[in-house]
Amino acid sequence: MKKTVKDYIRTIADFPHEGILFRDVTSLFADARGFRMAVDQLLHPYAGERIDKVVGLEARGFILGGAIAHQLTKGFVPIRKKGKLPGAVISQAYTLEYGEAVMEMHDDALQPGERVLIVDDLLATGGTCEAGIRLCERLGAEIVGCAFVVDLPELGGRKLLERLGMSVHVLCEFEGA
Ligand code: PRP
Ligand code: MG
Repeated sequence: MKKTVKDYIRTIADFPHEGILFRDVTSLFADARGFRMAVDQLLHPYAGERIDKVVGLEARGFILGGAIAHQLTKGFVPIRKKGKLPGAVISQAYTLEYGEAVMEMHDDALQPGERVLIVDDLLATGGTCEAGIRLCERLGAEIVGCAFVVDLPELGGRKLLERLGMSVHVLCEFEGA
């Protein structure tokens, strides 16, 4: 039977903590057919939509977002963890399982009115993407959608992003966080 994107994602038990099933997209990225399928499917709902820039969330969102931006012949903008970007930044705190973290974007990375697609590998609680949304909106960009390879529906990220008015596109879901 024809392999789906989900079939290329391997699960590693007890990483990074005991009891966690880690959904590992490196096995998807390493396969030429799987990677091409993921990029094409992430873009599928946006055919015919104007996208000015692709925004990727560190770290695996860079791999997907870079490929998508190249496919669209558009620019790529990284949202990085605190302290990694060299220029002037805007910052946004977000909640992790334990405590808080901060995401940053260059303050001139997007222009008001630019239409952006936000990309990451995986949607869990939605906290990381929510920080990304806030950063894009603070620069006046319009978010066309948020696209992920994997959704963990039990963690509620999709519902959170939809409550924020986002159009959310995921390629597959895994039960069990
Ligand atoms: C993982 C994943 C998403 C985020 C999803 O990244 O790649 O970016 O968590 O979780 P959330 O929806 O609950 O915010 P991680 O923070 O592990 O960092 P990395 O991508 O740099 O490895
Ligand atoms: Mg990440």
